[in-house]
Order: sequence, then structure tokens, then C-alpha cells
Amino acid sequence: MHCLADPAEHGNSAVDYIADGACRVQDGRIIEFGPAGDVRANGEDTVLDYRGKLIVPGFIDTHIHYPQVDVMASYGARLLDWLETYTFPCEAQFSDKEHAQQTAEFFLNELLKNGTTTALVFGTSHVASVDVFFTAAQKRQLRMVAGKVMMDRNAPEAVLDTASSSYEDSKALIERWHGKDRLGYAVTPRFAPTSTREQLDAAGRLLREYPDVHLHTHLSENPEECEWVSQLFPENADYLSVYEQSGLVRKRSVFAHSIHLSDREWKSLSDNDAAVSHCAMSNLFIGSGLFNYARAVKENVAVGLGTDVGGGDSFSMLRACNETYKVQQLQKNAISPASLLYLSTLGGAKALDLDAHIGNFIIGKEADMVVLDEAAIPLLARKLTSHTTWEERLFALLMLGDDRIVYDTLVMGQPTQLNR
Ligand code: GUN
Ligand code: ZN
Repeated sequence: MHCLADPAEHGNSAVDYIADGACRVQDGRIIEFGPAGDVRANGEDTVLDYRGKLIVPGFIDTHIHYPQVDVMASYGARLLDWLETYTFPCEAQFSDKEHAQQTAEFFLNELLKNGTTTALVFGTSHVASVDVFFTAAQKRQLRMVAGKVMMDRNAPEAVLDTASSSYEDSKALIERWHGKDRLGYAVTPRFAPTSTREQLDAAGRLLREYPDVHLHTHLSENPEECEWVSQLFPENADYLSVYEQSGLVRKRSVFAHSIHLSDREWKSLSDNDAAVSHCAMSNLFIGSGLFNYARAVKENVAVGLGTDVGGGDSFSMLRACNETYKVQQLQKNAISPASLLYLSTLGGAKALDLDAHIGNFIIGKEADMVVLDEAAIPLLARKLTSHTTWEERLFALLMLGDDRIVYDTLVMGQPTQLNR
């Protein structure tokens, strides 16, 4: 089951479901796909038989922090005190390369156990945090986009850089990693409050020098944050214009959260072809607010889903779909199961402008897949005995599923077998 288009535009016909399907993979790419009877193995093929299970494209997490594994489930704070109390002290530990290495390994295994094969990832301000992350991702042949955090004010010394050091360090990382195997670089200013104008301008300079890198930051997550931005940048009319002024709003720019936006900001995201990452689990967990998905659809702004670990409390994109559904329910918008599948696969790929490579099973794309076994959760299996259409089956597994139903995750056609 995969999406060929956006169900918000094309309805359920955007989903292609083949009850008994097969595909052939060569050198990590899909070379044939269709009904099992039409796709024949030849003598040299290795046959992987997942009969009775459901295969969907690898999930794409469009906003996550690998150094925040140990921040997950931190009690009782909202964004600004959550950063001060839990997050900055935790990220300070990433000056220790071994700690970073061990965390990157743990993190990538968690992603794979949850069926996530691509993510847009924050490192910390330490250069080595990104080197060890890319090294670990490259070893697993994963398509990952990541970057060094740029932050030169309003945080403890141990996590700060400077405008010029962040420019030089990011440039060196781009030269070292961008476009190597399946890896891509994201210029990553943390958010407006922790960067001076000089540093935001340095980020803009990097984007001009390397036009195909991503830009990854936070935008309008929490009301106190928005108020602080208006005090720090009194000359800017709104939050997004702080980024616009430095040339950071363009295609391949991904703005996490984007909850409290003005009409002008929505229009600017749309006009500039920028994307947003909706992080329902985090927005509920740290009490940030309700993302207006219907507005994003209306404005034609590309949306992907993010877990935002460690603001989010799970690595599971299935859990992210569950919370996304509830956040829209609170706004009287019942998002369809087809749209949830889209947002966690092809929609995420489009938000990252990587849909030429990943997001569905079109011939030529990279064979990143998740094999789901609904029988692994008795409640889900029980429910599915009386729900027979693919829409009902999909909705039930998105609402009741989690890592227990991830039977295997395939990267470039290769099983990773971390759950067995
Ligand atoms: N805004 C600035 N930094 C962060 C972060 O680490 N997590 C979240 N959720 N929001 C942020
Ligand atoms: Zn975040």
C-alpha cells in the first residue's frame, strides 16, 4: 500500500493498494512492482515472502533531535523552561564524542525498529555530533539529512558557538558529507531566539553557496517563544520575517511546528515553496498548541510529520499519526487514514523535496519499506476480523499500532531484522 498523490486533493484514489503484491529490487532500487502474478522472480533473485503482512513505504520523520533521546518524558515544563531545564544540559554532554557515538547508534536502531528509514535530524552545536551521526547513518546505508545546530546567544556557554565559527564548521561539514552516498546536509539555526542577526545571515550565506542543502529550524511553536521573538527582533513584523530577512525561506526549508502563524506568514511559506513539519506528539506533550492542517492544505504548503523526539514522547510514526488525528479532531477536522499514510510517507518526501528518491514504490525509487504485522497486537488483530476495507484496516492500524507491528524494516531492499 502506497500513495501516488495527496489524498487531500485526490481522495482515496491517491492510494494504491494491491492485496497480493510483489516487487523486484536491484541495487537497492525498485525495478518491478505490481500484482504478485505479474512480478516474476528469476533464478538469481532472493525471495522474501511477507504473505499476510502489509508493506508500506519506509516512514519519513521530518523533524527529530537525535541528541534528545534522554530528554524524552521530561516532566512539567513548556518550551522555554523545558529547553533551560532539560534540553541544553543534555545537549552539553555531546562535547563527548563517545557519548555522541553511542547515542547515534541507539537512535538509528530505534528509528529502524519503528519503521522510519529517513529523517531530518538536529545534531547539537558540536561538530563531532554530526560527524558521528553521519558515520552511523552511512554504515546503515540510510537516507538521512542532518546538521550542526547554530546557536550563538541565550543559552549556556557549553552549547554556544559564534556566527563565524558556525559558518566555518557548517561549511566544512557540508563539504565532508553533503551528497555522500544517501546523506544530505541541513543548515540548522536552532530558532530565532538563540541566533543573532549576524548568525542568521551566515546561515543565509551558506544556502546561497550550497543551494541544494536543506534549511531546518523551529517556527512559532509556543506563545511565550513568539512573544520573545518579537522583543528580540522589534524591527521584524512577525516571526517568519526574521528568517526571511536572512534568506532562509525557500524550497528545501523546513519549519518545525508552525502553529501560531499570521495570514501573511502562511502566504509567505506558500509563495516561497517552504515546508512545515507537524509534530503533534511534541505539541501535546510540551503543551504548545494545535497545528492547523486544514489551513496548510488550503494554502498549498507542503506538510510532513515529525516525532520531535525529545519533545515528542515516541519514535513511532504510527503514534505520530494517532496524535495527528486527535489534534485535527479537536479542530473539527477528521483527517482521513489515506492522508495520514501520505503525510508519513510521500508527503514527508515531498516536504523534504526528496520524492524523486523515496516516499512510494514507483519504479526507480529506493526500496525503503516497512513490513507491518497487525497480528502482533491482539487488540488490533481482533478489530481487523470485522474491518475489511483497506481504509478501515489502515485506520485501525494507524490508531492502535506501534513498534510491535513493525515486523521488519528494509533499507535499499535489505531486511534489518532489528525487531526479531
Ligand atoms: N525550539 C528551539 N529548540 C527546540 C528544541 O530542541 N525542541 C523543540 N521542540 N523546540 C525548540
Ligand atoms: Zn524540535
